[in-house]
Amino acid sequence: MALVAFLSSMVQSASCATTNNNNILAANRTISEKFVKLTGISAGKTEKLMEKWIGNRPWTPETSSQFDSEIIEPLKNLRIALLVVDFQNDFVNGSLKIGDGDAGQDPLEAIPKLNNLLENSKWDMIVYTKDWHPPNHISFLSQAYDSDRKFDRKSEDLKVFDSVLFTEPFKTNQTLYPDHCIQNSEGAEIYPDISIIPDSTYILKGTNPYLDSYSAFNDNNGKDKTDLEEILRNNGIQAVVIAGLAYDICVKFTCLDAVRLNFLSSVIPECSAGLLKNSIIEAEKEFADSGVAIISAEQAQKISNRSFIPEEWIRKLTNL
Ligand SMILES: *[C@@H]1O[C@H](CO)[C@@H](O)[C@H](O)[C@H]1NC(C)=O
Ligand SMILES: *[C@@H]1O[C@H](CO)[C@@H](O)[C@H](O)[C@H]1NC(C)=O
Ligand SMILES: *[C@@H]1O[C@H](CO)[C@@H](O)[C@H](O)[C@H]1NC(C)=O
Ligand SMILES: *[C@@H]1O[C@H](CO)[C@@H](O)[C@H](O)[C@H]1NC(C)=O
Repeated sequence: MALVAFLSSMVQSASCATTNNNNILAANRTISEKFVKLTGISAGKTEKLMEKWIGNRPWTPETSSQFDSEIIEPLKNLRIALLVVDFQNDFVNGSLKIGDGDAGQDPLEAIPKLNNLLENSKWDMIVYTKDWHPPNHISFLSQAYDSDRKFDRKSEDLKVFDSVLFTEPFKTNQTLYPDHCIQNSEGAEIYPDISIIPDSTYILKGTNPYLDSYSAFNDNNGKDKTDLEEILRNNGIQAVVIAGLAYDICVKFTCLDAVRLNFLSSVIPECSAGLLKNSIIEAEKEFADSGVAIISAEQAQKISNRSFIPEEWIRKLTNL
């Protein structure tokens, strides 16, 4: 009698274990499918990430729901801003045409895909930045000989795109450009074909006469900040998707500052245009080294509808 009771309890606990195991498998499959759907990462890679996360612990229904709440939900609930950098008349068809650079990238070609992202994707915030220079700005070749500034060369025959080291009033390296994006001028307006989404945020940069500001976050000397960081933080933004002009200058420095300030950052080359071949190559090396994800316009769309997350972001956010 005792033996029969013992055997029957064995059978019961074995079937109980099987049911449990099935539950774990099902829970496990549910979270891995959810992760694949959210991130666009392959099932195989997802399995590796999950194995790394679980380590030597056993999978249980509890660990499955922990993976969900600690890894998947924070990724799903990321607050993400789209930043449109300096898409202004002077850079498109005005005094400092990006298309004239040796990269031959015409800003007009970036506009349809950028507009699609502006109009048909949902972002937690949209920011347009504008280069916004006073008429005597330090970056203007025409002003290099002004009496309120000094530079390190005796030569009087400076040309556009020469680089000089100003020593007064601030020590700063500066490339010299034609006058461009002068405050309140037509050239400083956002190019008319760019979609303007109501209730967006605008950031003006390069307003100090003596310092240029490639990054939308702060000037080239890291001295004065714009309001961008504070506005993003006040809106709970954790990630930024960046496009605009010029890819290898203002877009680049904005991306690198975003990463430095601990925002998850990605850049869309096909919604941008760059000036110089070599500096575009250099920019992409810096993106790779610093964890800026380089993405397509379609991937950006998928970020906005939560069906893609760059691996750079996942690594940074989860340490996996
Ligand atoms: C849970 O899923 C991971 C990743 O797919 C896998 O490595 C692991 O073996 C699974 N565990 C169980 C108990 O099914
Ligand atoms: C630039 O293009 C816009 C839009 O086609 C046009 O309205 C504007 O007159 C052009 N500006 C210059 C300086 O050619
Ligand atoms: C200016 O650029 C030169 C060459 O890239 C560099 O050696 C120098 O440190 C820079 N100076 C300042 C003030 O940034
Ligand atoms: C998200 O956007 C992509 C790219 O436009 C599209 O293919 C996909 O169907 C969208 N997914 C959802 C869930 O809306």
